[in-house]
Amino acid sequence: MTAPKIIALAGSLRKNSFNQQLINEAARAALNTGAEVEVITLSELDIPLFNEDIEAQGTPTGVQLLKDKLRTADGILLASPEYNGSITAALKNAIDWASRTEQGAVPAFRNKVVALFAASPGGLGGLRGLNHVRDILSGIGALVLADQLAVPAVHTVLGDNGEINNPDTAEQIAALAQQLVSVTSKLN
Ligand SMILES: Cc1cc2nc3c(=O)[nH]c(=O)nc-3n(C[C@H](O)[C@H](O)[C@H](O)COP(=O)(O)O)c2cc1C
Repeated sequence: MTAPKIIALAGSLRKNSFNQQLINEAARAALNTGAEVEVITLSELDIPLFNEDIEAQGTPTGVQLLKDKLRTADGILLASPEYNGSITAALKNAIDWASRTEQGAVPAFRNKVVALFAASPGGLGGLRGLNHVRDILSGIGALVLADQLAVPAVHTVLGDNGEINNPDTAEQIAALAQQLVSVTSKLN
């Protein structure tokens, strides 16, 4: 059986993003199960605000890169920060771009297994936003796992180097990452 290909990304453009740190940990856990894992940093893709006029001039490089990586991936570890009870504009924008399908091509999110994570300094850990991400991704053909993880008070569980210093949280992150790899392997 070939190792499933997993991509990991967070919907934040912030340098010290909590959600990026969470997804880095999830990526490490998936790697430890033998999966092929690539971490994508959204800010490095430099994706412009979606505009059909820009699209008509050609797909921006960062968008094409994201679409190519999505199409070759079997599963996605996705951490979604919560802004005002919902998904960040940056993540929605990236999803909107990636959802656009060239003539004859397979939609980029179609049949990708997705594990959802969120992290917030607040008490609900970004849980409310995950409902919206789940809805959006399901609507464009992704297979979103029923289990998800929202980490509240995330600033208290991260060490100076971005490592998770709470064993329970580290275990929960690893369990969801392992579930993604396990389900993805069965579908391959
Ligand atoms: C515009 C805005 C709205 C926010 N709304 C929420 C919210 O609804 N719930 C929440 O838990 N945190 C909210 N926050 C705080 C974010 O959880 C916090 O900024 C977090 O660090 C963002 O994730 P990141 O560190 O990965 O960038 C909001 C922050 C901003 C800038």
